[in-house]
Amino acid sequence: MLERRAFLLGSASVAALAVSGCGGGRCGAEGCDGSMMGFGSPAAANVPAGSALVLAETIDLMDGTSGAIRAAAGNYNLGGGSQAGAFLFNQQWPAPTLRIAPGATLDVTLNNGLAEPTNVHWHGLVAPSAMDGHPMDVVAAGAAKRHTFVVNARPASYWYHPHPHRRTARQAYLGLAGFLCVDDGHDAARGLPTGPRDMTLLMADKRIRDGVLDYSPGMMDAITGWLGNAVLVNGKVAPVATVEPAVLRLRLLNASNARILNPALSDGRMFWLIGTDGGLLDAPRAVSNVLLAPGERVELLLDLSRDAGKSVGLVSAAFAGAGWDMMGGGSGAPAQGAGFELLRFDVTAPLSGGAGTIPTAFEPIVRHDPNLAAQRTRVFELTGMNGMSDGWHRINGLLYDGARIDFSVQRLQLERWQFVNRSDEPHPMHMHGTQFQVLSRSGAALPTDLGWKDTVLVRGQETVQIALRFDVAGQYVLHCHNLEHEDHGMMLNFNVL
Ligand code: C2O
Ligand code: CU
Ligand code: CU
Repeated sequence: MLERRAFLLGSASVAALAVSGCGGGRCGAEGCDGSMMGFGSPAAANVPAGSALVLAETIDLMDGTSGAIRAAAGNYNLGGGSQAGAFLFNQQWPAPTLRIAPGATLDVTLNNGLAEPTNVHWHGLVAPSAMDGHPMDVVAAGAAKRHTFVVNARPASYWYHPHPHRRTARQAYLGLAGFLCVDDGHDAARGLPTGPRDMTLLMADKRIRDGVLDYSPGMMDAITGWLGNAVLVNGKVAPVATVEPAVLRLRLLNASNARILNPALSDGRMFWLIGTDGGLLDAPRAVSNVLLAPGERVELLLDLSRDAGKSVGLVSAAFAGAGWDMMGGGSGAPAQGAGFELLRFDVTAPLSGGAGTIPTAFEPIVRHDPNLAAQRTRVFELTGMNGMSDGWHRINGLLYDGARIDFSVQRLQLERWQFVNRSDEPHPMHMHGTQFQVLSRSGAALPTDLGWKDTVLVRGQETVQIALRFDVAGQYVLHCHNLEHEDHGMMLNFNVL
């Protein structure tokens, strides 16, 4: 409770959180008021809401057994009938969740059943560069590639998606994205909910016209990124989950191309942030909302133990202060910062066993030494347009060139990277090959700054400093996870020597 205010978007924007125009409900320092309707509603997308939440199938790789994923065109159904035009892994939406133990060898073959090149990147894992889905390392149409490497990772919710240069945004948008959960089998001992009380929710906004997915970015969308008019949760608009009156663990992934989400509960109650991109926090933190940029994950605990018979909504609360607030997505899509319905929990399932409690602490996070990191500081300037004829985003003045190595870092050496955003737009910056820690930001702290990260939101005109170290030599990329920004060149190559 005590830290709640510090974890909102910052005092200047708390007032703005009490929502501007455009619907979306109201959120202030005390939380959100429960009227999260309006913009971004299923009606706007003209698809029925309220179907049952679909949970992804699991491909169990726990003991090192091999698995296969096949990318191919397929059909989807948002509720208005089956439509062609999706790109799916194993013909499933949501794509299967891969589950593996830390230290096990991942052994997954990607079969490319698309009529174009693709590849797969294991977002958040440290993979050898030949297995990492580097943007220039693609699998031709009809070909296959086997990926094997040891998963040296903390238990957390990672994900996988294609990464072929200039095709990532469209391929991921059309459905090629799934969870990869690293599970050490000790979650019950940590006091965390398991089984059906542990849910993976893959959230991504889409622009839907009469039940059909649209992906046709123009000039304006290349600048803002492709913003949708509804957020799909595991492939459906505003689905309903029937749950027990118990503590639930939610693993949330923002797989949107460009939209920042702001998960909150419809009645404004607090929930607990327990984990970020690359692991659990040292202890659960009570928050009323948590900004989640494209590429980021959070794990939350939600206490529904006193809600038997009731319904509780998960929403993306309207927000301001990330940059380019309320800047439209073109063609009527709600702007960045608009509110959305995500999911409704109907607390009507009979309680099986104890309701569960909120654990008080997890394992401590070993902190990188900021003074040591500061001895090697690299600065990355993020810039926006240089006039309309050059409307792309750059890092240190550069656009991506797959054949160019932009810098090298020494293996096992702690560094400080400083992202200086000289544009008014938000850029979620992501590095391959490591997990890092946030040292500071010029704007208000975000609750996710407390944990292990692979993607960090850098708001308009903000400066963010991180500490990081690479343990594996190879060629990796650093890029903005706004996928239109990435595809248009907001990405650099670097070598770990
Ligand atoms: Cu999730 Cu380089 O990407
Ligand atoms: Cu990645
Ligand atoms: Cu960007």
